[in-house]
Amino acid sequence: MLVNLIEDVQIEDKLSLEEAVRVALNEVIGAYAIVVIDRREPDKLVAARKGSPLVIGIGKGEFYVASDASPIIEYTKNVVYLNDEEFAVLNRNGQLDIKTLGNITKSPYIQKLEMDLEKIEKSGYEHFMLKEIYEQPQVILDCMRGRMNAEQGWIRLGGINEFASRINNAKRIIITACGTSWHSALLAEYLIEELARVPVEVEYASEFRYRNPIVNEKDVVIAISQSGETADTLAAIEIAKERQALIYGICNVIGSSIARASHAGSYTHAGPEIGVASTKAFTAQVTILTLLALQLAQSKGTVSMTRLRTILYEMELLPEKVRAALKTDSQIRDIAAKYKDAANFLYLGRGLNFPIALEGALKLKEISYIHAEGYPAAEMKHGPIALIDENMPVVFIATNASAHEKIVSNIQEVKARKGKIIAIVNEGDTVIRGLADEVIEVPETDEILSPLVSIVPLQLLSYHIALMRGCNVDQPRNWQKSVTVE
Ligand code: AGP
Repeated sequence: MLVNLIEDVQIEDKLSLEEAVRVALNEVIGAYAIVVIDRREPDKLVAARKGSPLVIGIGKGEFYVASDASPIIEYTKNVVYLNDEEFAVLNRNGQLDIKTLGNITKSPYIQKLEMDLEKIEKSGYEHFMLKEIYEQPQVILDCMRGRMNAEQGWIRLGGINEFASRINNAKRIIITACGTSWHSALLAEYLIEELARVPVEVEYASEFRYRNPIVNEKDVVIAISQSGETADTLAAIEIAKERQALIYGICNVIGSSIARASHAGSYTHAGPEIGVASTKAFTAQVTILTLLALQLAQSKGTVSMTRLRTILYEMELLPEKVRAALKTDSQIRDIAAKYKDAANFLYLGRGLNFPIALEGALKLKEISYIHAEGYPAAEMKHGPIALIDENMPVVFIATNASAHEKIVSNIQEVKARKGKIIAIVNEGDTVIRGLADEVIEVPETDEILSPLVSIVPLQLLSYHIALMRGCNVDQPRNWQKSVTVE
């Protein structure tokens, strides 16, 4: 036990609490974020971190220590983020001292938090998750603001400009992330390869970190993380950095560990996401990744100005279209009531709607505890089709026009086996309306942007089903918002 080691060192070497912590931590391996108090020295706390996040809030005559800034914001906006292998001594008299484990004194760098309390309250919504789903039109707008202009045909992600030549000349882009952020990564693979014609590999950070990956200075590694504190993603970054790759971080939390560990990057501007199940952070990531793909495509000359402008104009319409998709809420509540007792769900999509199928399935299982799986629709015939009977709801994400005919034939295969079909379609899709049990219509947009619209009904479906099953929507069992451990 770490606390026993600290006490041993303190007694045997006759050291002060902070010195004992420093000496003891030099002997341990692994990740930690700790706060230590000694009953014989009650006027001081010693806080230290390595691999796990730790932030100190500085109030009036008081300090706060937490793993991220959200719980602190109510009391103070002044914070100090500890770096790895640093420790802080918080004295009751208000003095704050920071040192490295190597005993070098550091001056505390006090940052001002930009979030405000109102933004992290529920504003009349029953749950944070619902509020965050409804914030998506604004979030998409915030992510685009100042970063693109359809009329003039430009995109400018500040982070890219700084390393333009390395990014434009990358032989390969590797994208690493976990969970929902990994689904954004998968979408980015489709977008970057389609628009910028650069090979992209998508890696679970937890696998990448342990498989001795081939990475070098010609690679750009994009790390995506809402919290910016995910331990696996941080470890993947360190490996890629050691191998000289350029790291581009896409994070939501300003000043987070991943943002600081990256060479360059873009913030997603989604505002604090409190619901453990990620919603608005996902759409923010996809918006930024779409801009990134477009900027890269423009620099490499792989997209015409006409096509670029068409997409950018459509992006400007996205907030309105997402708002229209939110109007499906009450219809989805009725659908949820019908299917809430199902034991399993299947989510199927093709192309860009395949990652959306994965994300829809993840949303359902993480908050309603219903087993759900996402598949590329065409994979169904390679095995999952055996699962289909009259008790299996199958959610088809069928908003991509180029795959319409094929998805219709997948729907027919499910119908022939008496599966219950819930289809997300573009407005006016009479063909699928004639086949499906439930049809949820969303506004049509450019196909490469369609994931940003079609994800909305899936988020609402999981929310309503979870609520009807009596689950704790904002804080599901067994896991937490920032996965800062392996
Ligand atoms: C999804 O709803 C979850 N919050 C989870 O899968 C999450 O995306 C994953 O843990 C990665 O978190 P990050 O984006 O903060 O790195």
